[in-house]
Amino acid sequence: MAESEQVAGIVLAAGKGTRMKSDYPKALMPLLGLPLTVYVLQALQGAGIDPIIVVIGHGAEQVRAGLGEGYCYARQAEPLGTGHATMQAMPLIPEGIARVVVAAGDAPLVTADAIRALVEHHRNTGAQATVATAQLSDPTGYGRIVRDSTGRILGIVEERDALPEQKAIREVCTSFYCFETCVLREALPRLNNLNAQGEYYLTDVIGIIAQGGGKVEAWQSPDPTLLMGVNNRWELAQAAQALRERILKQLCLDGVTIVDPATTYIDATVQVGHDTTIEPNTYLRGKTAVGANCTLGPDLYLEDTQVGDRCRLFRSHIVGATIESEVSVGPFAHLRPGTVLRRGARIGDFVEIKNTEVGEETKVLHLTYLGDATVGKRANIGAGTITCNFDGMRKHRTVIGDEVFVGSHATLIAPLTIGRGAYIAAASPITDDVPPDALAIARCYQTVKEGWARRRRESKQMGGKTDGK
Ligand code: UD1
Ligand code: CA
Repeated sequence: MAESEQVAGIVLAAGKGTRMKSDYPKALMPLLGLPLTVYVLQALQGAGIDPIIVVIGHGAEQVRAGLGEGYCYARQAEPLGTGHATMQAMPLIPEGIARVVVAAGDAPLVTADAIRALVEHHRNTGAQATVATAQLSDPTGYGRIVRDSTGRILGIVEERDALPEQKAIREVCTSFYCFETCVLREALPRLNNLNAQGEYYLTDVIGIIAQGGGKVEAWQSPDPTLLMGVNNRWELAQAAQALRERILKQLCLDGVTIVDPATTYIDATVQVGHDTTIEPNTYLRGKTAVGANCTLGPDLYLEDTQVGDRCRLFRSHIVGATIESEVSVGPFAHLRPGTVLRRGARIGDFVEIKNTEVGEETKVLHLTYLGDATVGKRANIGAGTITCNFDGMRKHRTVIGDEVFVGSHATLIAPLTIGRGAYIAAASPITDDVPPDALAIARCYQTVKEGWARRRRESKQMGGKTDGK
């Protein structure tokens, strides 16, 4: 945008969000991995709106921390209405910026395209104020657009102040506007709070400008859901559903196969490479990034996890892990934060791993717990192996070298180092370091009592007991 075309933005996010019935401010309600208001900020940024002034009030410090720096913040000390909130932002608009977009902070489905179209319409019609409107089959709760018989906009009336015939109007105010900055600056001080809620309504600015003879325009959103406000948890759930579909569709268009969109849950913060197939009942959440040509699911939960290419992960719960390429995980693995799986590692059923690196092509295939461990390349960790990393007071590390063979049901009592190429006999509790290429065996030796079982059977049949030999 050229200098003279610069458009500033004001985002209203000072309200408590009473209807959410939450301990948290509405602006921070989590929505597919991001705070609710971040979606509005991203749409404005995408449309080139700059600077963006966010009006905060309820939980101000928390909201500011949650939305991040990169915006200007204005304080509304008391929630006296959307008009009052807008007024707090006006002194932060730099001199010489002719136009300003005002946006509700609670409309997460808004897109950069919608903001661009609103600003374009405002510019092309030469309006002093443009309100984005939507035609709704059920306009309940929204402010209604009041027009005269020629279609000229007279003002906006809030639901609670509306006459019965006004309630029948289905064209609603979406709380997105574009104003000539000087016109808005002049109109705001003329607001009053003589209405059902005793608030200074931003909506009344439209009537004030229209009555003063200013040109007021409506830009009607082609998709009425795009600018929908989220006031309660049911609307939050509906917004999440719409956003989720948008995310899944975009991934499909980018070359990802999604077998069942109805049971696939992917946050807005997630990346997936092309030719990856996502099977049903898969969740990809938080800062997760998956490479190309992977198969994920069915029944997979991934959170804050990095995955390379050509991996096969299914029916497992994975949080905070780093997984290189060509790794397979599942079924029924539980990978906890700090797990690093190097290229070609294989993790099988009922394996729990925490704060542990598993080397290239190493196999951990059955019933194992690895905690606070480093395992080298091409090692084999047998079924039922347990690292005893916690002594009740402190955690200790286990280091297992390259090509080590750990037999089934070994108990590795940390701190412990097993040298490269060593062999741990099955069922051994290992307490001391094992040098490279050694065999460590720690068991009670087996006693065989020839004929014992037969003698026991025979004595039972005679009603007696075995002699215990
Ligand atoms: C508002 C509009 C209504 C419109 C609807 C669209 C007004 C008076 N009403 O109603 O016409 O149809 O949005 O979604 O504008 N806020 C503040 N400070 C305040 C009050 C609100 O910052 O003192 C913020 C809120 O945090 C919220 C936004 O403004 O992000 C809208 O407020 P909300 O209470 O949700 O207004 P609605 O009742 O939805
Ligand atoms: Ca609202």
